[in-house]
Amino acid sequence: MTIDQKYIDKFVNVTSKAALASFHLVGKKDKIAADKAAVDSMRSELNHLNIKGEIVIGEGELDEAPMLYIGEKIGTKNGPDIDIAVDPLEGTNFAAYNLPGALSVIAIAEKNNLFKAPETYMEKISANVHEKEVIDLDYSIKKNIYNLSEYLNKKPEHLTACILDRPRHNSIIEELNNLKVKIKLITDGDVSGALLVTDKKYKVDIFLGIGGGPEGVLAATALDTYKCAFQGRFLFNTEEDKNRASKMGIKNLKKKYELDEIVSGDSIFCATGITSGELVNGIEIRGNDFISETLVTHKSSGFKKIIKKIEKI
Ligand code: FBP
Repeated sequence: MTIDQKYIDKFVNVTSKAALASFHLVGKKDKIAADKAAVDSMRSELNHLNIKGEIVIGEGELDEAPMLYIGEKIGTKNGPDIDIAVDPLEGTNFAAYNLPGALSVIAIAEKNNLFKAPETYMEKISANVHEKEVIDLDYSIKKNIYNLSEYLNKKPEHLTACILDRPRHNSIIEELNNLKVKIKLITDGDVSGALLVTDKKYKVDIFLGIGGGPEGVLAATALDTYKCAFQGRFLFNTEEDKNRASKMGIKNLKKKYELDEIVSGDSIFCATGITSGELVNGIEIRGNDFISETLVTHKSSGFKKIIKKIEKI
């Protein structure tokens, strides 16, 4: 079974409306308000769709998120059974301070094909390689870089690695520096960071490091259509994290997940720009219209494009 192409437009509409809602609050130093606007809009738009949806990645669990919580049923229930992962505002700091890169993101897959991810960190690695065993979370940084260097036929000093700028990455960064790899440090937004490996124009050869688990699953959905390699391993640091994971049915807490264990079958991914970033431009208001740009992928048709729309506000 596949997800009909007609749904592309419907989900682009969901993320572009959420992006517009959040855009009104850009630069107000209030990330909670900017997030809430995106969440409210996304939930309301999803509830109008003829789908039998279930949120598998959302704003948290029922006890902490009244809207778009994990397990929430969404849509009119007249339509296909689908799993939905949402990040209505990815890059809350970017929106609050009007910095580049805030996105509104959704990923959908056929029922039971999208990983139900808990709100924990995930160790991630991704590159535009189409063979197994070139990059691997279990390899040392050195082995990953040397393998990639050979695969891409580029010297390590001509490779660029993208990583979140966090103290937890100090040793990886030191190792990359020792190997003379160029580093692209990002302050936030690792959905976008991971997707920079998809096209040569972004000049990023490998994405790695620890970021949000939900963001990992979202990025993996698009990377799947781009046929890039991705692996993720959740990190359950506290007892609370471990209990949550057990409740969600995760037995092996140290498991390394391959891309096809995170997302399988058909999928659609949409990321609309709120503020302009490397992937897409942000919302622009022109009179009574708004212009949005959404990066879209659809696995079964191989569709991967930026869709630009002009709509009435
Ligand atoms: P928010 O949109 O929730 O603020 O997340 C931004 C983000 O940078 C993600 O892209 C990333 O996965 C995560 O935060 C990293 O978490 P931390 O800031 O705790 O290192």
